[in-house]
Amino acid sequence: MTEAIAVPLHARAGFAAILACVLAALAGLMFGLDIGVISGATRFIQAEFRMSDHAIEWIVSSMMLGAAIGAAVAGWLSATLGRKRSLILGAVLFVGGSLLCGFAWSPWMLAGARLVLGVAIGTATFTAPLYLAEVAPERIRGAMVSTYQLMITLGILLAFLSDTALGYSGAWRWMLGIVALPGALFLLGVLGLPESPRWLLLRGRRDEAMAVLDALRDDPETARREADEIVQQLRSPQHGWRLFLHNANFRRSVGLGVLLQTMQQLTGINVVMYYAPRIFAGMGFGGGAQMWATAIVGLVNVLATFAAIGLVDRWGRRPILYLGFAVMAASLGAVGALLQAGTPTHALQAAAVAALLVFIAGFAMSAGPIVWTLCSEVQPLRGRDFGIACSTCANWIVNMAVGASFLSLLDGIGTARTFWLYAALNLVFVACTRAWVPETSGATLERIEQRLMAGLPLRELGR
Ligand code: BGC
Repeated sequence: MTEAIAVPLHARAGFAAILACVLAALAGLMFGLDIGVISGATRFIQAEFRMSDHAIEWIVSSMMLGAAIGAAVAGWLSATLGRKRSLILGAVLFVGGSLLCGFAWSPWMLAGARLVLGVAIGTATFTAPLYLAEVAPERIRGAMVSTYQLMITLGILLAFLSDTALGYSGAWRWMLGIVALPGALFLLGVLGLPESPRWLLLRGRRDEAMAVLDALRDDPETARREADEIVQQLRSPQHGWRLFLHNANFRRSVGLGVLLQTMQQLTGINVVMYYAPRIFAGMGFGGGAQMWATAIVGLVNVLATFAAIGLVDRWGRRPILYLGFAVMAASLGAVGALLQAGTPTHALQAAAVAALLVFIAGFAMSAGPIVWTLCSEVQPLRGRDFGIACSTCANWIVNMAVGASFLSLLDGIGTARTFWLYAALNLVFVACTRAWVPETSGATLERIEQRLMAGLPLRELGR
């Protein structure tokens, strides 16, 4: 009897599931920590370096620029270095970037350090889901996407809480530097991972691939069958760029992914994630209250994401998106109106906070998790990596534009109009959902691909 067979079956399959969950969790957490951590620090950075609003926008946004670059090169990196080494590289850059942020002696250095951090996040947020899809047993793949989004929101919350705790002493260097600790944990976790069997087979290293699959799957028979399937798939290799040039239907699905991520970012969610304390200051709150209110934003974000996970498959993608965009439009409209009124009384102040929290909940229950799910569902197999890389890049580029323009918008057109602008965009997205977004719940990926390639309208790709 071989050693592989001697291991209890459920124990081995359980190990693969745990491995995948832990990685999804850690990658999501890193993503969230980085999104969240800057909001509490900007006030102190601005004071120490005597920076203008415009300069601080660039400190905030340099990370997103790095992430767009990271996501763009991650496909090539993970194909040449392998998934595991790309993740290790991401983790090392993450730890290094966080430490550099903590020690930065000039605004330029801080922007550079955040750029490095961004490259790390871009690489990890592309490679981790790819790795997961390749090692996780089929039955838990759906749960992975949800775990991932939940951990993003948990990372944001943790960053807000740590910012709140450190905010009393204004220790912005600690706020940014401390993220190196979970980064080191991520690095340790990644070092312990096996290489992806799919990548090993891609490189013709069948023996090593079989050893990994044997360790991860229920029984040697399942492992062998999966290896054969992968080899079969690899016969029609991924030529995303070539497919993009020659196939109009693929261009449509890439366009849809880019549109979905653009819509997600233009809801205005990251205006709140990056500048919440500033927004609360505009509502008349003092320093400590701003930080606590920001932490509540983080908590509502986590709780509402929980709710969404239960609804995504029951209600379907389109109804949830309609509702989400409508709720976001209405709540941002209300925030704008209340800010216009100047929130002179406590009651109006409370109403403004409540409206902002409704906006967060609206996002977290809809566009937050659903856009990531849809983006991985609508691409045909042969172009999936390329399609997802394009939509992920779009997420970061538009994310950057939002982060880099918010304070200028406040200065230029005023607070109320800025929120109304985002409210109007959310209304436009209700119409975009109606025109282009397919209902993919309950549809197999093969069916979606067949209908895409048959030239059916995008909104009819699913059911
Ligand atoms: C978005 C991030 C956002 C986060 C908030 C994610 O789905 O891509 O940009 O900060 O949700 O929870």
